Amino acid sequence: MRILVTGGAGFIGSHTCVELLNAGHEVVVLDNLSNSSEKSLERVEEITGKKLNFYKEDILDREALDRIFEKENPDGVIHFAGLKAVGESVQKPLEYYHNNISGTLTLTDVMRKHGVKNIIFSSSATVYGNPQVIPITEECPKGTCTNPYGWTKSMLEQILTDIQFADKEWNVILLRYFNPIGAHKSGLIGENPNGIPNNLMPYITQVAVGKLPQLGVFGDDYDTPDGTGVRDYIHVVDLAIGHVKALKKIQEKAGLKIYNLGTGVGYSVLDIVKNFEEATGVKIPYVIKERRAGDIASCYADAAKAKEELGWVAERGIKEMCEDSWRWQSNNPNGYEN
Ligand code: NAD
Ligand code: UFG
Repeated sequence: MRILVTGGAGFIGSHTCVELLNAGHEVVVLDNLSNSSEKSLERVEEITGKKLNFYKEDILDREALDRIFEKENPDGVIHFAGLKAVGESVQKPLEYYHNNISGTLTLTDVMRKHGVKNIIFSSSATVYGNPQVIPITEECPKGTCTNPYGWTKSMLEQILTDIQFADKEWNVILLRYFNPIGAHKSGLIGENPNGIPNNLMPYITQVAVGKLPQLGVFGDDYDTPDGTGVRDYIHVVDLAIGHVKALKKIQEKAGLKIYNLGTGVGYSVLDIVKNFEEATGVKIPYVIKERRAGDIASCYADAAKAKEELGWVAERGIKEMCEDSWRWQSNNPNGYEN
């Protein structure tokens, strides 16, 4: 298929471009580079030995989208473009709602105009809020989000669901990601956060590489085996492959489908520190801090539905996730800037 990948220069997008090209798809990337570098796409081409078409454009720019759809005539869209910093979204709700929601409304309107009615959307386990039952199945009710970023995901799920309900020609797949970490084996592409990382693994790798002095562990009094927060960490390459499988489902005229993409295994913050130290031989000093506002105790997936319906399972374990995160960070201490 010929796929337009919005946000394709970003962390998950660049890994997905690799898997799409490897699977024989044609790739067109649209990204405004607000949180990424074009270098990631050069490296995607280096890894795969294949070319992609790149447009530095914004999903809010209707005319640019029109031109790209006219010229490239994609069969479908994988839609990663969006702002994703949870804390920043609390400070800048208007920017988040505008970029993520108005951007997706513009994108889907242009898709409709050009008769492109296949979309895979990057949703998040955050839509479950504080889950009542763990592991979380897709049938668990959506919950109350604790920040505007989470609400954009929840609202966009509803908007895309309504679009598909009104016009059954649409195929909409909502993928709820758990916690993506790791990087491509080559060490050429990986996560490249701006400033001090908010997420656990990039924080750990920056401590390991000496950019930050120590990790702060946000709370050790949760109702979990060691008191620290438990999450379902998933290798970004497994996540990327999940998108290729979802495309197959789209080709079968999926209608509306929702899948969790997680491993089904939960690790605590201290488990991750220990696994990282074992996998890399690098010690991670840490201190226990106050709980972070909005965090929940535990969150991990029941990933059976993706296995049954997409034939997808996460294959890479925690050791590989730590090794690959570390290879990327140690080879590229300043991300794409070196
Ligand atoms: P990322 O920031 O690395 O990638 C997002 C990309 O979108 C960036 O390259 C950015 O420049 C681009 N972008 C943002 N606004 C845009 C706009 N208006 N027009 C064009 N491009 C724009 O983030 P990521 O981790 O790769 O996440 C990809 C998607 O997955 C996002 O929608 C994110 O919310 C979602 N997601 C991420 C996680 C995670 O933990 N990383 C978890 C769940 C869901
Ligand atoms: N943590 C620390 N110290 C840090 C960073 C994180 O102890 O410096 C802890 C958190 O308290 C939490 C765990 O590590 O227990 C994971 O935190 P992350 O920030 O890495 O991930 P979250 O689960 O909070 O959220 C992430 C994304 C969200 C997404 C969610 C579910 O940031 O966008 O996964 O997919 F919605």
